[in-house]
Amino acid sequence: MASAIRYVTDVDLGLTVVADVFINGSFVAAEQATVSVFERGFLLGDGVYEVIPVYAGRCFELAGHLNRLENSLAGVKMTNPYRDDEWEQLIDTLIQRNGGGDQALYMQVSRGAAPRDHVFPEGVSTSVFVMTNPLKPVSEIVKEHGIQAITLVDTRWQRCDIKAISLLPNSLLKQEAKEAGAEEALLIRDGFMTEGSASNSYAVFDGVVYTAPKDNTILPGITRDVLLSLAREAGIIVVEEAVAESKLSEADELWVSSSTREILPITQLNGQAVGSGEVGPVWQKVDALYQQMKKRAAQ
Ligand code: PDD
Repeated sequence: MASAIRYVTDVDLGLTVVADVFINGSFVAAEQATVSVFERGFLLGDGVYEVIPVYAGRCFELAGHLNRLENSLAGVKMTNPYRDDEWEQLIDTLIQRNGGGDQALYMQVSRGAAPRDHVFPEGVSTSVFVMTNPLKPVSEIVKEHGIQAITLVDTRWQRCDIKAISLLPNSLLKQEAKEAGAEEALLIRDGFMTEGSASNSYAVFDGVVYTAPKDNTILPGITRDVLLSLAREAGIIVVEEAVAESKLSEADELWVSSSTREILPITQLNGQAVGSGEVGPVWQKVDALYQQMKKRAAQ
């Protein structure tokens, strides 16, 4: 007899998830979803993706994510398979099928199945895969004490603005951070901090927030957009300039942001205290505004 437990995604949370996924036009049980072994996403990492937080059954900043998806698709010369309203309906259906509430929605568009060749195939339709995972709340311990990070050389390519599924460099960097006892790696390119391995990054000096500008060296984070506008509305000065690696040890505060981990304060960098070694006041202010916005969006 088929088990009701289809897959368990988060052992820490003790969550057992019974989930459907969307694959190439159909909603099916996760364990019944299949793709071709010739799928270019599988063979070549040829595809793009989005991760969207869902609060109380509603996507947070959906328009921003769909807009970035469009840009990523254009960046890899793929046509968007759906209009925004079609995406919205598809996503909404999956969220409801998987019980609503708080979820992390993952959507992927890859170039499709074709005989392996570096050159793009012609006349092949893209593959679309959407799943939801439990959205693990940021722990109170992390919010009270912050996280540890290390700096690493940014070994990624020159198109970090594309949210590509080929994440091996990011994965290697994050793993190196983990093996060093840290939660995130802050990446250094040509002497300047670009972003984290799976996050955007920020440094605060004398109350002013610095973050790398949107160019090809960072992913234009949706949480970054929200954070910067909330900070500016609150009268905090934000400067979109990359911070030199040599200045990082003098920062009063360091943060990272992402859709699934929100805004996290870094209280130790390379084993040294950041500022006072405690969670900083500018982070506290911005995080409080972010939490309020999340609450409003869930209503
Ligand atoms: N990653 N930079 C990188 C390299 C990232 O992988 C991410 C997020 C971000 C933050 O973007 P956003 O605020 O839009 O989530 C920045 C997601 C969460 C992931 O790969 O799972």
